Amino acid sequence: MYQSIVRPILFRLDPEKAHDLTFKALKLGQALPAVPQLVEAACAVKNIKLERDVFGLHFPNPVGLAAGLDKNAVAYEMFGNMGFGFVEIGTVTPKPQAGNPKPRLFRLVADKALINRMGFNNLGVDNAVENLKKRKRKMIIGGNIGKNTATANEDAVGDYLFCFNKLFDVVDYFVVNVSCPNVANLHKLQDTDSLNQILESIQAINLKKTKPKPVLLKIAPDLTTSQLDEIVEIVHSSKIAGLVASNTTTWRTELSIPESRIKEIGNGGLSGSPLTKRSTEMIRYISEKSGGSIPIIGVGGIMSVQDALDRLNAGASLIQLYSGFIYGGTGLVKNICKSLLSKNV
Ligand code: FNR
Repeated sequence: MYQSIVRPILFRLDPEKAHDLTFKALKLGQALPAVPQLVEAACAVKNIKLERDVFGLHFPNPVGLAAGLDKNAVAYEMFGNMGFGFVEIGTVTPKPQAGNPKPRLFRLVADKALINRMGFNNLGVDNAVENLKKRKRKMIIGGNIGKNTATANEDAVGDYLFCFNKLFDVVDYFVVNVSCPNVANLHKLQDTDSLNQILESIQAINLKKTKPKPVLLKIAPDLTTSQLDEIVEIVHSSKIAGLVASNTTTWRTELSIPESRIKEIGNGGLSGSPLTKRSTEMIRYISEKSGGSIPIIGVGGIMSVQDALDRLNAGASLIQLYSGFIYGGTGLVKNICKSLLSKNV
């Protein structure tokens, strides 16, 4: 139904308008009696064989919703009803911010891809905390944290710590996002010194808690092999729980749309099908380099059941969808879960 009816209607609208409209419908559905239960009965695949224990958390299935869709934590319960095994909210920043000027989200339908330069538009961490306090459903929520655009890189640690402290009681795991290509110079925080400083500051607080929470690092697909080697070392030295690989890419290779259209769209992070190969290779590399010792959430270009299986085979413990969900809807989540069951993966 999504691909034959809902998607054609949504794809006639401007991408951001379609997003806002969908969220209005999700919020409404969430508030209506019996709707969440009906959605869950229609979409969610439940089976003990799908359950996973990763970095100390118990997941009902390994297919999660990637960060950036439910930035303000307003519809996470509905995404749980739709069959996702976990939902990552954010990226949230200390203060609310509007993000980059519109238009800033583009569909590349022929390439099954998206380009976005949203720029961490969000209502701020306090707003997300209030929304997450209303959680009625038992589910795993990740908190993806970032810095405000106006905060200089030298002061970034303060922003990450601020969000970490605020969210600590209302999320199950954290993701430190230093890899968004749409916030000026953010990716520079992926250098060894900056990363060590951010992760060690967070861990200094986290590891003193009675029950520390898993902290993961989200990385860009544009890193070189030697940068990946450094990241593996940093994961070990900072004792963080794992990696989320990957964010969107600034590359524009393997696109079928005309060069003139690519130029017209301009800057932004590319996601969806063109990311599939690179993201899988990256996971395989990290997994082999670390001898499988680093839990990885695989994300980027998972558009089909086969992509999901490949990602898990490459070494991911869990996977996430963003573009695949925009193009394939809840059917993709359901088909992946059904396939994992039938193949006993
Ligand atoms: C994103 N992504 C993202 N990631 C993140 O860590 N914080 C964020 O705020 C956002 N925002 C965001 C907005 C939009 C419109 C898109 C398309 C993507 C990146 C996302 O979580 C994921 O890592 C990439 O999109 C790659 O996965 P897919 O889309 O190829 O499945």
